[in-house]
Amino acid sequence: PTPFKLAPSILACDFTRLGQEIEAAASAEYLHIDVMDGLFVPNISFGFPVLEAARRVRDGAGSTQVLDVHLMIDRPERYLEAFVKAGADSLTVHVEATAHLHRCVQTVRELGRRAGVVLNPGTPLEAVRPVLDSVDLVLVMSVNPGFGGQKFLPQTYERVRTVRRWLSEIGSEAELQVDGGVTADNAARLVQAGASVLVAGSSVYGADGAAAGLERLRQAVGQ
Ligand code: DX5
Ligand code: ZN
Repeated sequence: PTPFKLAPSILACDFTRLGQEIEAAASAEYLHIDVMDGLFVPNISFGFPVLEAARRVRDGAGSTQVLDVHLMIDRPERYLEAFVKAGADSLTVHVEATAHLHRCVQTVRELGRRAGVVLNPGTPLEAVRPVLDSVDLVLVMSVNPGFGGQKFLPQTYERVRTVRRWLSEIGSEAELQVDGGVTADNAARLVQAGASVLVAGSSVYGADGAAAGLERLRQAVGQ
């Protein structure tokens, strides 16, 4: 079986029980943290206090789960250091949100964290090529960012295949992540296309809890 990792998104969790919701997802390799500023995307989610709380929960559980911060904010270069201080292990910036993509990647790495870049569904994949050999993660959005619970866009499969090919061509070991509308119905096909990390919000934090949701996704991919 092709190895892959899961990244439950706390955007879909019950925030009155944040600590328990994070602990329920402890079997996942990543914890996905969606930061929205109301400018880059038409929604506002949460910021530093929630990330700091997630960090305390993770550390308290003695876990090594990667705190994977997806920055849906304008000019993320203004806040990279602050997100590292708040506890991010990995910082992913949108190529559409900055005129200084390479500098962002460089800064995150200088701060000793994993650097990710992310593309909206309408953005040509070529936008990540200049930094492909300098990143630890490429995120291909499979919905327009801003909200959980949206429908998966099927053109994502082909986009994932292309980025996977480019990464192979340069011998990169960067993760290839997909985010938005990921469910047990499309997970296997995404991993086949070359995704190595699946972000999932509503399909994990469903009625029967995160542990069951994560198990469903693993079953669907056959692992
Ligand atoms: C969307 C966020 C996603 C979101 C995914 O803007 O980036 O991470 O939480 O939620 P689902 O899995 O419900 O589409
Ligand atoms: Zn996200």
